[in-house]
Amino acid sequence: FESERIKLKDKATGKSYAKIIWFGEHSVVYGKPAIAIPIYSVDVIATIKRIPAGQQIHCRYFDGPIDEMADNLRGVKTLISHLINLFGAKGLGFDLDIKSKLPAERGMGSSAATAIAIVRAFFDFFEVNLTRSQLLKLANVEEKITHGNPSGLDSATASSNMPIWFIRNEINEQIDFNLPTSSLVIADSGIKGKTSEAVSLVHDNLVDEPESFQPLIDELGRIAETARNALATTDDELLGQMMTQSQRDLAKLGVSNQTLDTFCQVACDNHALGAKLTGSGLGGCVIALAKNQTDAQQISTALRKAGATQTWIQSFKNYQFSTGEA
Ligand code: MEV
Repeated sequence: FESERIKLKDKATGKSYAKIIWFGEHSVVYGKPAIAIPIYSVDVIATIKRIPAGQQIHCRYFDGPIDEMADNLRGVKTLISHLINLFGAKGLGFDLDIKSKLPAERGMGSSAATAIAIVRAFFDFFEVNLTRSQLLKLANVEEKITHGNPSGLDSATASSNMPIWFIRNEINEQIDFNLPTSSLVIADSGIKGKTSEAVSLVHDNLVDEPESFQPLIDELGRIAETARNALATTDDELLGQMMTQSQRDLAKLGVSNQTLDTFCQVACDNHALGAKLTGSGLGGCVIALAKNQTDAQQISTALRKAGATQTWIQSFKNYQFSTGEA
């Protein structure tokens, strides 16, 4: 590799956010619509620094050369190798530092956010423009390995600055709404939930008993449509009801557990307008809709008392229109 041939920076960065699926997890895999939002305060930053050519690529994310990356990071490792090949950068020495505030396997899109941040850092390093569709295609290299059959919703949200309305292979558009005082409280149960296992469980249930499970998928799709209308009319009470109805359906699909059910109940007992699990389930996080900051604080405190390992409050007034860059 002759670094002189290619324009390189000494240091480059890429950033991405955690995602929260507000409506439509699982049903989105089967072509139903979903609404998801990026969480600004929970980000991943990938930094690439040049080191002398010929040295091994060191990844501080797991603190070692990428060749020795653990098996659960196979998707990330494959993506990095893919990017090195894409830029013809074999033999180039660099240090890749990934700083993530996202807990892994908690339904917050940790793998997709990491992939998006890495792709952005590589394109910045080689000073090449990156389109949104290229970005999503590259992130999918990692997501396919990590999740098997991803709908693409996680990477679409992790790469967006705004809430999105998403239908697999069809629609990925930003939505704007006006809920200036409300917020979502996110509570981490601390229990790991593997997306690939939850997606397989729902798939198996659908194959074994379509008459019981297909209506749930259909209803989750209708709930997402109703929620979009409720956003357009600023009807937070209806949004809350739709969240609680989603939780009932997701539990029937088999992807909730007792801790998540209890968290939802605790949130609703503390003024939440509605609550549900978010992401693939079997662990991970719940989200609760709060009408104002006082309620959000009360819900957050109650969920911590009930055993949440971490909570975050995402206000909707912070969302700004994207600048359009990838
Ligand atoms: C995982 O964050 C969301 C699921 O709907 C799977 C997917 O969309 O690929 C469970």
